[in-house]
Amino acid sequence: MSKINAAITGISTYVPDYILTNQELSTMVDTTDEWILTRTGIKKRYILKGEGKGTSDLGAPAVLQLLKKTNTKPEDVDLLICTTVTPDMQFPATANIIADKTGLKNAFSFDLNAACSGFIYGLQTARSYILSGLYKKVIVVGADKMSSIVDYTDRTTCVLFGDGAGAALLEPTEDDLGIIDAELHSDGSGRIHLHQKAGGSAKPASHETVDAREHFIYQEGQAVFKFAVSRMADVSVDMMKKHHMEPEDLAWLVPHQANLRIIEATARRMGISPSQVMVNIQEYGNTTDATIPLCLHQWESQLKKGDNIILSAFGGGFTWGAIYMKWAYDGAAVADK
Ligand code: ACO
Repeated sequence: MSKINAAITGISTYVPDYILTNQELSTMVDTTDEWILTRTGIKKRYILKGEGKGTSDLGAPAVLQLLKKTNTKPEDVDLLICTTVTPDMQFPATANIIADKTGLKNAFSFDLNAACSGFIYGLQTARSYILSGLYKKVIVVGADKMSSIVDYTDRTTCVLFGDGAGAALLEPTEDDLGIIDAELHSDGSGRIHLHQKAGGSAKPASHETVDAREHFIYQEGQAVFKFAVSRMADVSVDMMKKHHMEPEDLAWLVPHQANLRIIEATARRMGISPSQVMVNIQEYGNTTDATIPLCLHQWESQLKKGDNIILSAFGGGFTWGAIYMKWAYDGAAVADK
């Protein structure tokens, strides 16, 4: 039997209409456009507004667009994985809701939570299902309504995050394309530096937890920054070494977009030039599970069949990892305008 790989065969995204600029944030908390730009690289982010709107309202349009673009019938999809830290509700899974909203009648679906590493965890999970031979069409949708857990009175976190979604279709291929390797890690001892204090089973919601603002992101920025820089760079450099890749062999690094300084440090350690790195943090901020597909989609028209690409991410948990893939199609012919 010939060897099978799992490849991304299409990518789509969705961001809501409302744009929250650094200027507007500086009217809400004690911050400036200059501080945000120099410390993070972010200029603006998109926010989902509207009563009752949740993460599924970001993920579903991305999936619908993906089905259309790849000429995929909803009933042919076997599995939908939604990677998110901001599910519509504790249960059922947001993946179930997105599958319902997009007509994926024959798919089973579940959520995966690996914070900002969620999308690459999702890709590796989808790949494993495909390599098992049991499933052929798997969608990974990374979606987050970060604005639902951001404290807009805390200047140290509220400037960082935005809302958005990105969906990828994965299918088997017998060609030497698609995901070649993945290295994923987690270290739960890092939870002290980055977590949501209340709302889970350990500390259910109460008047006290609401008054203490414990349903928002808690982050010790500097500690997370240090871990992020070393772990994202280490895992990306390891991936290059393992596959005997020189900097010129890499077409693109697609890093999680948490902070421009983390991205630049990772690229420096890999010895690659800024022109090999996808960066759109200035436009979207940190959309957690959507950053990597938002990049792939924005650069799709420049992606060529066989391009060597490394995706790398770091997030709450801590979680981190890298995926090495050979891009499976010429993007220019299919890219959304
Ligand atoms: N505007 C103005 N001043 C600010 C702001 C702001 N928005 N935020 C913090 N400051 C102040 C601080 O109060 C501090 O002031 P002080 O010196 O008087 O005490 C000063 O700026 C420096 O603060 P630092 O925390 O040292 O700033 P730093 O350069 O570390 O940047 C940041 C903070 C942007 C949060 C950075 O630490 C970072 O990016 N951390 C990593 C984030 C990350 O990767 N998260 C993982 C993914 S998220 C997930 O998984 C959900």
